[in-house]
Amino acid sequence: MTEKQLSELLQDMTLTEKVEQLVQLNGDFYGGGDFLTGPAAAFHLTDNKAYRLGSILGSDGAARLTKLQDKFMKEQPHHIPALFMADVIHGYKTAFPVPIAMGAGFDPELARETAEAAAKEASAAGIHVTFSPMADLARDSRWGRCMESFGEDSFLNSCMTAATVKGFQGENCKDKGRVASCFKHFAAYGAVQSGRDYNVAELSEKTLFEDYLPSYEAAVDAGAEMAMTAFNTLDRIPCSMHKKLLRNVLRDKMGFEGVLISDYNAIGETIIHGAAEDSRDAAEKAINSGVDIDMMSDCYLDNLEELVTSGEVPESLIDEAVMRVLRLKNKLGLFEAPYKDASEEDEKRLCCCREHMELSRRAAEECIVMLKNNGILPLRAKKAAVIGSLCESRDIVGSWAIFADSSKTVTLRAALEELCPDVEFEFIPQDNPDEKALAAAKKSDAVILALGEDQLGTGESRSCTDISLPEEQKRLFEKIYGVNKNVIALLFGGRPLAIPELAEKAAAILELWLPGTAGCLAAADILSGKVSPSGRLSMSFPYCSGQLPISYSAFNTGRPKDNRVKEFIPFLSNYMDAPNIPLYPFGYGLSYTSFEYSPVALDSDTLTSDSRITASVRVKNTGDRTGKEVVQLYIRDVKGSVVRPLRELKGFKKITLSPGEEQTVSFEITEDMLRFYDINMNFTAEKGSFILYIGGDSTAESSAEFRLV
Ligand code: BGC
Repeated sequence: MTEKQLSELLQDMTLTEKVEQLVQLNGDFYGGGDFLTGPAAAFHLTDNKAYRLGSILGSDGAARLTKLQDKFMKEQPHHIPALFMADVIHGYKTAFPVPIAMGAGFDPELARETAEAAAKEASAAGIHVTFSPMADLARDSRWGRCMESFGEDSFLNSCMTAATVKGFQGENCKDKGRVASCFKHFAAYGAVQSGRDYNVAELSEKTLFEDYLPSYEAAVDAGAEMAMTAFNTLDRIPCSMHKKLLRNVLRDKMGFEGVLISDYNAIGETIIHGAAEDSRDAAEKAINSGVDIDMMSDCYLDNLEELVTSGEVPESLIDEAVMRVLRLKNKLGLFEAPYKDASEEDEKRLCCCREHMELSRRAAEECIVMLKNNGILPLRAKKAAVIGSLCESRDIVGSWAIFADSSKTVTLRAALEELCPDVEFEFIPQDNPDEKALAAAKKSDAVILALGEDQLGTGESRSCTDISLPEEQKRLFEKIYGVNKNVIALLFGGRPLAIPELAEKAAAILELWLPGTAGCLAAADILSGKVSPSGRLSMSFPYCSGQLPISYSAFNTGRPKDNRVKEFIPFLSNYMDAPNIPLYPFGYGLSYTSFEYSPVALDSDTLTSDSRITASVRVKNTGDRTGKEVVQLYIRDVKGSVVRPLRELKGFKKITLSPGEEQTVSFEITEDMLRFYDINMNFTAEKGSFILYIGGDSTAESSAEFRLV
């Protein structure tokens, strides 16, 4: 349809019809159960009205959605098709590693590929829009939704977010195998205080603009068709009624023209926050702030029409929102092809197909991070005990892999049995270090402990105050370690855990995250030595919960402490009972080979606003295996009109080197990379000295200085 035809359609719609386009309910309202006494009753809905709404959430399957679409188009007076939206976060039937793991892959192209595969499966299952990517920055692993974040760094987060949007949408979301992408949660949901989910976000305007907003903006720039508001308040205003944030920042400053949806009942919750009187007030505030679709509250449904007829909300506001919804339907091609790609045949062919399972495995290979290795890995043991309830669990895929086909999940046990045929394994799928477990450990050359969190231990609303290992796992580790020192700890989970005891005593630690449907095959490939680990931490691993939030991109205080000094020094900025630095820093990860960096070379030590500096290092594989290294560029602005972070990631390249091979890795430095919000909130670069670091993690020491003149 042309824009003109869309406006004509809008003109022809009644106010009731328009409001219906702005309401979204979940699959519970459509089929199954006693509709009229079930959820619909709570929403004062008659059967037919539910089928006139603009979109639904969380339903899938080509057969079901095709039928539903027929019903929607029959009931809707203008036969407008519905939008089917769902949370396809890290895969549909084939699950890929959770986003925090994908962040650790430091490979945006891989993120694009996994999103593309997820889009193929989901679109064949009739889904039009996915509520992904989550662009929220996460620096506090008490927050369970770290799992859905690409991590603590704004630059990495932006690269991964943009790549994911492109992977879902391709050139045009109308194309076969594509879905529209809805980034979320606008804004600063990752900054919830104390890591408690849905809590307030209290952060300075500079931190918001400089650290938290860039990844959402990257989604806008990548062309994301939709955005979702956050549950939290920002500056004491619930994000779903934050006019300044949504209209001035998202629409005007970032130029977002797509559909803005609230999070689940977030408009309704503004009443509980104490920022709206009742559902009518909430609806008025949300529509005024520019929220187009109300997800799962009755605020728009019950009040928008009345608010317009009473003159409190101009109809033009409703028209604006409806027009955006119609445009999205049109962009997806739904007016011509209302089922889009829904096809039972394609669904069968694509879901968990060989190609996607291989991608799931390959993605996990890139994301698994080796945190420690005293040489025990690759595994040479002839006999190994594998202990821990997670070793046979299928709940290792991720809490948002809600559609994943768990029958296809490869357990750690299955992967080890398949890929390490020369090792005699004894599997003891329990966390209890009973006699059987200890006896098995005693008689083995090495013990593989499957530790950490399963997929229900992390994710939405899974916040915790203590991110150390559960007591029973600590006990398991100590007991086993007591009889066999060759303990290889495999950590599952969606957040950095505090693991000082493992760091001190375990022979090796591999962070597997929640690696996806075929992810354990990658774990086995790494254990056996077929693949050298190449993931690098996307979030710092603290010593203890008390260090949170923590990020490498911190500031000096007026009383900084030299990180090399171990003991507590009164009246310096330090803790009495823990160091300032994390146990494992951002960007960190080991390999089976070793890399050597030359000093950093700059082709000039002076930068102007229209010149560039090339910074280079030579990286050499000094080990005897092929391996991948993530070469990372950090910059420090030595002095600013406001204090500046000690370093900021400004570039990275993942390279593969065979034994003895050397490669020059270069980064171009331009003035725009040095911009920040100055003392007057202008986004600008200030003249002066900068230090540039290149190396294998955020503590890289090889540096060079230049000046911006
Ligand atoms: C989550 C969103 C999600 C939505 C719809 C909410 O609880 O915060 O991330 O997209 O539910 O399922």
